[in-house]
Amino acid sequence: MTHHTHEDTAPPEAAATDHRRLLEIRGVSKEYVSVKGASVRALDDVNLDIGDGEIIAIIGPSGCGKSTLLRMVAGLDTDYEGTIEWTRAPRPGRDIGFVFQEPALLPWRTVARNVSLGIEVQKDRSDLPTDRVDQLLELVGLRDFAKSYPKELSGGMRQRVAIVRALAYDPRILLMDEPFGALDAITRDKLHDDILRIWAATRKTIVFVTHSVEEAAYLADRVVVMSPRPGRLRSVHQVPLDRNRDAATRQLPVFAEFAGMLRGELA
Ligand SMILES: Nc1ncnc2c1ncn2[C@@H]1O[C@H](COP(=O)(O)OP(=O)(O)OP(=O)(O)O)[C@@H](O)[C@H]1O
Ligand SMILES: [Mg+2]
Repeated sequence: MTHHTHEDTAPPEAAATDHRRLLEIRGVSKEYVSVKGASVRALDDVNLDIGDGEIIAIIGPSGCGKSTLLRMVAGLDTDYEGTIEWTRAPRPGRDIGFVFQEPALLPWRTVARNVSLGIEVQKDRSDLPTDRVDQLLELVGLRDFAKSYPKELSGGMRQRVAIVRALAYDPRILLMDEPFGALDAITRDKLHDDILRIWAATRKTIVFVTHSVEEAAYLADRVVVMSPRPGRLRSVHQVPLDRNRDAATRQLPVFAEFAGMLRGELA
């Protein structure tokens, strides 16, 4: 693959290349009305196509509307202007996996039963293998902790449980809001590789919010940079790396150059 510099990155409206389109965000704006009646424009005319199987990172200053946008894509907030159209409409509780910044695990359920929660609430999932939960826990190195309770895990382990829980019912798209924010650098790097391994095994569409330009550059196919409030798409950049990434990727000059360019856009 050729290495692009930021001169030839795509404009904000650019369609996803290489991927069939999964969803289309058109002219999305959002206004919140505060308790006192003042309105806050959180998003302003956001346009973005997301391709099937694509990994997209969203970065931008605090309060620019990243979580708001992610919640809209998830269908958790339906009160906005504009349209979000799916190639195939997502089925509620079935096609969208969501990972919250704080892993919201149920303390009275074991790790395995937290992961299986999304499957249990669905009617018939005989399409999923019976050892689905074990397979997923294996994938993130937590098979030995299947019968443990959340309070017996470290923060990073809990976050891994939250991620595989969102994957358990095999959603079409995985949405993650700062999933690695609270973790130390080593655990983060390990989870990044977990995510890449999960992607290689499932080719899921993944959209995640991060404050780390390195994390965005390491994981994503495209990076969406948002401007300060009211949140607009400032730019969308194709990551100049091929899909196979590992520890050595972080040492490449093109990686440092791309991350530096993103950092400049945030300044
Ligand atoms: N429920 C709400 N009521 C009123 N205003 C809100 C509400 N939720 C968010 N906002 C406002 O909308 C804007 C965008 O919020 P949002 O949480 O999407 O930002 P963000 O980019 O995720 O920020 P951060 O990086 O800090 O998580 C902020 O100005 C915030 O004050
Ligand atoms: Mg947020």
